[in-house]
Amino acid sequence: MMVHIPNVLTPEQVARCRDVMMKAEWVDGNVTAGHQSRKVKYNLQLPEESEVAQELGAMVHKALYRAPLFMSAVLPQQVFPPLFNRYDAGMTFGAHVDNAIRSHPQQPIRIRTDVSATLFISAPEDYDGGELVVEDTYGSHEVKLPAGDLIVYPATSLHNVTPITRGSRIASFFWTQSLIRDVTKRALLFDLDMSIIRLTRDHPDHPSLVTLTACYHNLLRQWSET
Ligand code: NI
Repeated sequence: MMVHIPNVLTPEQVARCRDVMMKAEWVDGNVTAGHQSRKVKYNLQLPEESEVAQELGAMVHKALYRAPLFMSAVLPQQVFPPLFNRYDAGMTFGAHVDNAIRSHPQQPIRIRTDVSATLFISAPEDYDGGELVVEDTYGSHEVKLPAGDLIVYPATSLHNVTPITRGSRIASFFWTQSLIRDVTKRALLFDLDMSIIRLTRDHPDHPSLVTLTACYHNLLRQWSET
């Protein structure tokens, strides 16, 4: 289940990210790579512990909790502090699966990565190439979104970033441990939630709304891990 979540960051927040990052120091992206992905990863990152990464990461983190679609699709238990990467011309990230467990170097944070996320900070017209390609059982999906938009997808998916042929691609990336570990159950709850929202809009007094809402919460109670 891939979900596109538009406008997670405002244009002002995107501008702030770009501004700060222009002056920031970038390091080899392999600092957070696992054993296998190190062989295919060619990009740059803001050092995790840098002040810049922490300021911008906190801004992204806060924005996520104000995005109802993110809350509904991901059902976060804990979001790993967002990181930032940059691909210049020639850089790429070959096919890999993200590490299952992610620990923070400074904070007492250790999560199971259920959902992977990429938040686009560069505008699509600022670079060529750099598509995020995610494989699932229905084939491969290419993603390149407007600045400020987010894509979330199951962390179990094989994915890659195609080589950049012009410009630079800046993004934030992070993982979430979900209250619902199983992707099928998570997708089912998401569909149910979206249907309840549409029904509430179109038929606000429909008597089935109470039952459907009860079903949603009772399934969440059955399945959630806290
Ligand atoms: Ni990845």
